[in-house]
Amino acid sequence: MTNNAELLQRDHRALVHSLHNPAAHLAGNLWVRGEDCELIDADGKRYIDAMSGLWNVTLGHGRRELVDAAARQMGELAYASGYSGNSNLRALELGERLAELVYPNIRRFFFTCGGGESTDSTIKAARYYFKTIGKPTKVKIISLMGGYHGATLASMCATGMPAYWASFEPRMPGFVHIPNHDHYRYVVPPGADPETAAADELERAILAEGPETVALFIIEPVLGAGSYVPPKGYFRRIREICDRHDVLFAADEVITGFGRTGKRFALDHWGVTPDLMQFAKGITSGYVPLGGVGLSDKVAAVFERPGADPWMHAHTYSGHPVSCAVALAAIDVLERESLTERARVLGERLHAGLRASLGAHPHVGDIRGLGLMATVELVEDRSTKATFDVGRKIGPQVLAAARARGVITRGRGDHLYLGPPLVSSEQTIDRIVATVTEAVQAVLPG
Ligand SMILES: Cc1ncc(COP(=O)(O)O)c(C=O)c1O
Repeated sequence: MTNNAELLQRDHRALVHSLHNPAAHLAGNLWVRGEDCELIDADGKRYIDAMSGLWNVTLGHGRRELVDAAARQMGELAYASGYSGNSNLRALELGERLAELVYPNIRRFFFTCGGGESTDSTIKAARYYFKTIGKPTKVKIISLMGGYHGATLASMCATGMPAYWASFEPRMPGFVHIPNHDHYRYVVPPGADPETAAADELERAILAEGPETVALFIIEPVLGAGSYVPPKGYFRRIREICDRHDVLFAADEVITGFGRTGKRFALDHWGVTPDLMQFAKGITSGYVPLGGVGLSDKVAAVFERPGADPWMHAHTYSGHPVSCAVALAAIDVLERESLTERARVLGERLHAGLRASLGAHPHVGDIRGLGLMATVELVEDRSTKATFDVGRKIGPQVLAAARARGVITRGRGDHLYLGPPLVSSEQTIDRIVATVTEAVQAVLPG
């Protein structure tokens, strides 16, 4: 037995993992080292990390600046409470820095430890807002089928994937889902404008629920699971609908924030600003956990209202000084090395490469995404868009074939995801494209 296999056996006895799957786990990798865009397992085998971990290790492994920032901060102040009446310099500096970087109407922040906690915090901020302004019946949350917002109990309810619900029902009341704008499969109602038809689903849902009951619409600007990019007119219409019905609009930028789509924050592609935004992952390049919620001036104002109830929401590690120090260092690298622009340029290369090598494959139904987010959707029949029988496990086979050729990535069903680091070289992008192409052809000879 190899070292990797032996360690996985031990690991399996000791741990339960996220999305626990014993068979897949034991056939997996135990990672011991990361170097730039590569991961090295316990057998010493090297792989290109075509997913940047889980879309988070945007700056690659081994960045000295981040390591030094963490060590320096641990030496200076390892931890202090961030509960009201307490703060620390790095949290304050990060809040000020973010105010310069994000949407102009967002200038105050609440920090968390990751994406799911950020979703919970966004939901709580929306309900707190409406209770404080005297509209306590506005409590419902609307999100997209196919969207992912985390797996804590509340964020799981916002997540639009039944597989995440099944073992944990009943879900919390007050969560509503509308169809994904998926340009490949969404059927535009007869006579509707394809630019805005999917956005109008939101208005239909708000009216069906009763506007006086709806607090929040939360959406990823580009969906992580499937790399769905909305039509051009989508977000402008969403903004109008939210304003018309006094519903807060939250952008979940946990994946899209900090450059990945070729803009610092992704709603800038459409010139729209949200009322709330959340981030995690790329803010520290995954070196330490950190997430957060940005509050627009309109929402932040209620925190200062005379007579407002206290914000009884809290995390021990909110504003953790080490995480904030690493985030400041990561933002410095992002800006100094113009990595947002790099993501745009490399993204074009990635998408052009995939289209050139897989665009005509008889089992490739769609190739989509923006910047360094891409998905290849495999289908049984291109003309009918019919999917493969799940039992054939086509997607997992393709992922395994890519892994055997030295490229690690993820997928869901027959959707193959790619999300390489923003510091990838052109050669790395080309190798990812070539390897995924070979893997698809190995499983589905064209
Ligand atoms: C868009 C989005 N929101 C929220 C989350 C949940 O983040 P976490 O796993 O840090 O709780 C994720 C995780 O992938 C995500 O992609």
